[in-house]
Amino acid sequence: GSSAAEAPLVAAVDQGTSSTRFLVFNAKTAEVVSQHQVEITQFFPKEGWVEEDPKEIMRSVYECIERVCEKLTQLNIDLSNIKAVGVTNQRETTLVWDKVTGEPLYNALVWLDLRTQSTVERLIEKTPGRNKNHLKHKTGLPISTYFSAVKLCWLLENVEEVRRAVDQDRAMFGTVDSWIIWCLSGGKDGGVHCTDVSNASRTMLFNIHTLDWDPELCRYFDIPMDILPKVRSSSEIYGCMKSSSLSGVPISGCLGDQSAALVGQLCFKEGQTKNTYGTGCFLLRNTGPTPVMSEHGLLTTVAYKLGKDQPACYALEGSVAIAGAVVRWLKDNMGIVKSTSEIEELAAAVGSSYGCYFVPAFSGLYAPYWEPSARGIICGLTQFTNKNHLAFAALEAVCFQTREILDAMNQDSGVPLEQLRVDGGMTSNRLLMQLQADILCIPVVRPNMAETTALGVAMAAGAAEGVNVWDLTAAEHPEVVSEKFEPQINTDESEFRFSRWKKAVQKAMNWET
Ligand code: G3P
Repeated sequence: GSSAAEAPLVAAVDQGTSSTRFLVFNAKTAEVVSQHQVEITQFFPKEGWVEEDPKEIMRSVYECIERVCEKLTQLNIDLSNIKAVGVTNQRETTLVWDKVTGEPLYNALVWLDLRTQSTVERLIEKTPGRNKNHLKHKTGLPISTYFSAVKLCWLLENVEEVRRAVDQDRAMFGTVDSWIIWCLSGGKDGGVHCTDVSNASRTMLFNIHTLDWDPELCRYFDIPMDILPKVRSSSEIYGCMKSSSLSGVPISGCLGDQSAALVGQLCFKEGQTKNTYGTGCFLLRNTGPTPVMSEHGLLTTVAYKLGKDQPACYALEGSVAIAGAVVRWLKDNMGIVKSTSEIEELAAAVGSSYGCYFVPAFSGLYAPYWEPSARGIICGLTQFTNKNHLAFAALEAVCFQTREILDAMNQDSGVPLEQLRVDGGMTSNRLLMQLQADILCIPVVRPNMAETTALGVAMAAGAAEGVNVWDLTAAEHPEVVSEKFEPQINTDESEFRFSRWKKAVQKAMNWET
């Protein structure tokens, strides 16, 4: 039959920094059939430290799965129509667990965590010419607190249980994708310990040319290679769901969330670019089958490899640590909004920051600066300034940071982007979208379906060999309905504000000196 109730469906776990989602898509129309979302607690045990509880992460995954299954049943949709599950995730966040007990050996060290700042400074100090790009030829990355290797070093050096588990051959390392897939596929009773090339390329232990763990990098960071997951493509059957209402369904897609958004935005061709506004903000440009090294502070990363026998596709990436997180900070730490959605109204009421600039360098500054010692700064205050202006300045900060990474991208590629595709939670904020177009001086295009990240990994899962319900090679993908925001202020005004922002960044950069 062809009724909607019987269409093949593909599900996706989207485990982000701030929340976990589970979505089910119709594999023919790419429409969302059902979804559920749960917020994740972030722990800040010391200044600069950011942790999450791996067990809470798994509880949230199971809760989302079960709630969606209930909703589907209420809609009279048979769960057996779900043909595959994909997993997409916050990248770099580092976990170690005990494969015998199935217990995490420490909280997850979140990508934003700064506890490795001194290690990073020491490592750079030791390189010839104090060069933070010393490992870039292999990894595509600068030595930074951002990536997993230094976080794993910290766990090995500072957590007794981790050290002991390594000595007893009981330790498993993984990024969030590995942890979720291992748990969903059986955990201590035969779970699959794997990751995909996109997630592996964010660890700093992975050679982006050979597409495998690099023994020399592992020696450099003193990481035992037998605790690493097996690296697989982004679209193949890794194992099956073992518990939950979806028991028996193949797990067949795995992509870091930014790669998944690139796929979900259908950026399969060289030059196609998207920007995702989540906790952080990540601009990725597809550069095709060869890695391109940036001259302007961008990362080179594996975007995806959609099948065992498919070539890997690479991307240049501009990463901004704090985007949505600045709004959450205004809510949780400052209490100036009760919910993050209030920020739009607050900012819209004044329509300008009146000279107030807010550089939210809470985790140092990422692209294009890579300065771990930078700290947040709010400047240009007068007695006139109130919380509305602060709200406006926070949104503007997200737009200015995007402008900086887009400028870097344009310089690297030599071809200025004519419009920017965007997605992610914050893009429901229309004021932000208009501001972004104004500050970039190019149109911003937002698909009406905001869950591009989940869609991307659902596509990868549905297309896997042995599942075959989603055709990625289709000449015509389901049409994406989107909305376009055109720049409305003149270039001079835009440039003036951007130059002020850059001054504020310099102050944030030199904070400690
Ligand atoms: O690199 C970190 C990134 O993957 C996190 O994404 O959406 O949680 O901000 P998000």
